[in-house]
Amino acid sequence: MLWAQVEAMRRGEEYVEREHLLLGLLHGEGTGAIRLLEGIGYAPEELRLRVAGLLVIEPGKPRAESSTLAPGARQIVEQARRETEATGHDFVGTEHLLLALLHDAPSSVVESGLTYDAVAQALSSGMADALAEEALPPSPKIPARPGFLRGRHFLSVLDLSGDEVEALFELVREIKLGQVAKVGVGKTAALLFDKPSLRTRVSFQVAMTRLGGASLFLSREEVGLGQREPVKDVARVLSRMVEAVVIRTFSHDAVVEFANFSDVPVINALDDYEHPCQALADFYTIREHRVQTQGQKLVFLGDGNNVAVSLMLLAPTMGTHFTLACPPGYEPPVAVVKHARELATRYGTQLEITNDPILAADDADILYADVWTSMGQEEESKKRLEDFAGFAINEKTLREAKEDALILHCLPAHRGEEITDDAMESSQSAVFDQAENRLHVQQALLAAVL
Ligand code: CP
Repeated sequence: MLWAQVEAMRRGEEYVEREHLLLGLLHGEGTGAIRLLEGIGYAPEELRLRVAGLLVIEPGKPRAESSTLAPGARQIVEQARRETEATGHDFVGTEHLLLALLHDAPSSVVESGLTYDAVAQALSSGMADALAEEALPPSPKIPARPGFLRGRHFLSVLDLSGDEVEALFELVREIKLGQVAKVGVGKTAALLFDKPSLRTRVSFQVAMTRLGGASLFLSREEVGLGQREPVKDVARVLSRMVEAVVIRTFSHDAVVEFANFSDVPVINALDDYEHPCQALADFYTIREHRVQTQGQKLVFLGDGNNVAVSLMLLAPTMGTHFTLACPPGYEPPVAVVKHARELATRYGTQLEITNDPILAADDADILYADVWTSMGQEEESKKRLEDFAGFAINEKTLREAKEDALILHCLPAHRGEEITDDAMESSQSAVFDQAENRLHVQQALLAAVL
């Protein structure tokens, strides 16, 4: 039902209609409906894309703030209850909702050849149960439990293996369902920030509160990391007073030095080299919107900056093809690109770096933008405005991308520069889901390392 609501809201619809219910059913893995569809030879993702393609999104229509069940959709839910009784089950599952939808199927479904009888027969033959074990996602290789990364630093996306990212994402899912215990009681995280922040600061502080712990914000003026006091001294003092340190500063070397002298977990909340928490939240958001990250083409338009580096290094592990389009001279460091290429080869993904934003955007599943001038580069902003012209999510690049390409931006955004106002507000935009997921992902990360 939640996915149905998301599908309606993305399209700017005030009401959840039966088509949105169907699209909602086709999200996820291992649900009763998905198992039934797979059992009778349908690829749910293919069906979802086909139905989504029939529901035209009005260009520029803003995303709806909320969507409620339309009267027709309420009837479907009632029918699902009847299907449940008829099959003798004691719960209303996605398989019953699928049957209810097929009971009076919309043309988009009829065209696909999917019939009520085929699904009803499969359900009564016990296929859903029989397929359950093999269809369920494999058990996580690493248990997704709080504390599974206890004591570990997170300075780079490369600090987590693919299995650990999967376990973390499972923990995020459980957090979003309210299933994770308050493992932060009696614990404090220090937030050592040398640069401004809205999302990162608030999300870490709220995450600690939600885990039952406390957070302490320490600004540049108060601490003077490496100026008033050496990095290694600050690290050792804080280690004796708090249970975790979240650090946002300029130099990656300073973050590494801090971690080397810290006895408690250190989390990189952005430095000049990487923004690893952002990348985790971005891939979690992609998975929520696209079910899987595998095979997606993610195109980053703009500077080969810290955000681009974290995405580029994490993309191969997530099975995502990555393209960076930046003006000449703004590529990430050569060593990073070399490492990313090795990872791409190992995981069988593509990595492309180009100076042509239009070529880059071709057939993109996801377009991603970040500000052209990052924190600390303000003196270059005039030159950057000129150099980056065209490296933006705008009408031209959107025209090249897939029709339903997801729009991402790590925020804050400069509308009219790296992204148009229309793109930010369009139904394809997931930028605020991205921002919200910073909270859930970082709560999971804190729960994992504490
Ligand atoms: N995206 C991001 O890191 O936002 P803040 O700079 O506001 O924390």
